[in-house]
Amino acid sequence: MNAEQIMQAEQAHTSGLYGKQPIVFVRGSGASLFDIDGIEYIDCNSGHGVANIGHGNPKVAAAIADQAGKLITLFETFYNDSRANLLQLMGTLVPGLPKVFFCNSGTESVEAAIKFARLSTGRPGIVAAMRAFHGRTYGSLSATHNKKYREGFEPLVPGYSHIPYNNIEALDKAINETTAAFLVEAVQGEGGVYPIDREFIQAARQICDERGAMLIVDEVQSGFGRTGKMFAFQHFGITPDLLCCAKSLAGGVPMGAVLIGPRVKNLQPGAHGSTFGGNPLSCAAANAALGVLLDEDLPQQAEEKGQYMKEKILAIQSPLIREVRGLGLMVGVELKQKVMPYIRAMQERKVLALNAGLTTIRLLPPLVVTYEQIDQVVSTLEEVLALKFESEK
Ligand SMILES: Cc1ncc(COP(=O)(O)O)c(C=O)c1O
Repeated sequence: MNAEQIMQAEQAHTSGLYGKQPIVFVRGSGASLFDIDGIEYIDCNSGHGVANIGHGNPKVAAAIADQAGKLITLFETFYNDSRANLLQLMGTLVPGLPKVFFCNSGTESVEAAIKFARLSTGRPGIVAAMRAFHGRTYGSLSATHNKKYREGFEPLVPGYSHIPYNNIEALDKAINETTAAFLVEAVQGEGGVYPIDREFIQAARQICDERGAMLIVDEVQSGFGRTGKMFAFQHFGITPDLLCCAKSLAGGVPMGAVLIGPRVKNLQPGAHGSTFGGNPLSCAAANAALGVLLDEDLPQQAEEKGQYMKEKILAIQSPLIREVRGLGLMVGVELKQKVMPYIRAMQERKVLALNAGLTTIRLLPPLVVTYEQIDQVVSTLEEVLALKFESEK
């Protein structure tokens, strides 16, 4: 099929739920994607933060091929070597979070954490933050704040409330003896790339401890080195009770997980589960991907490259930039106007970027991005910020 035929075939049968871009990508390597004509793009989307170790990693590809030839599927009631390796690795990745539940996506990890918090405390209440994005299934959607995701799907799950992000006073009022958990992103991704305040997350830890509620941190987007630490909460000197992760865990193969601390109780056989969760294929991919992340010290690379990228963006002389923020290679550039025309203009110049809300450009390159590629991303950003988009003024 040529590009035209591929796009027609997708358009004819796709659900309609995705705003399609007219490019057919067929290959990736490191921080680059290649279209069907071999044209190279720098990928600052990373599949919404999935490709932390880069595209086309040969170690991950070999691990997947090897495991696929041995055993792809095995329910967690039976033991398996590939899963045992991953449980050992993940159960020691974060001190204080020794247990692991495997699932298949970010929303499933949030669903599981919410269920574990309710089961553990016997309480119904889930407090989440305004601007939060936690996923699109009912439990996580009920914690997601933006009405764009919620409208048309009501009634949502009862027992949820929202407070302003980083507002200690509101948190103090919201958490009480009916609260099962406070659920929060360490860096709000979809909501605009806002890192959490140290004082706020520390207060949350203390308030949850005092009032018997669980602290759930959602690191589906910010996890696995993206922010300069293995997990973003590690910048702030706290440990959550439940940590949600997914996206880059298995190097791009679908997989989610919840890391579980000792305050979480009542996880008995049958209380929760997942057919595909912890399947040997995903576990093999995750073992290889985490191996690459650790061997190449990609969290440290993210810290240094993120600093470099932010400094270069801050040096751009553009009256359109309101703020540059983020942690590591999770970078947000807030403009004084809507960003989609600028993101489209970057795409025309072979740099893929994401929006985060209406006015923030979000840059999530693979952590293996080169300094030359970062220079190119920033010069492309500078070039498009000099353009005038009449309709968006
Ligand atoms: C913070 C956060 N939580 C949860 C999710 C949902 O993940 P998934 O799309 O894998 O269900 C996302 C997805 O972007 C996310 O950014």
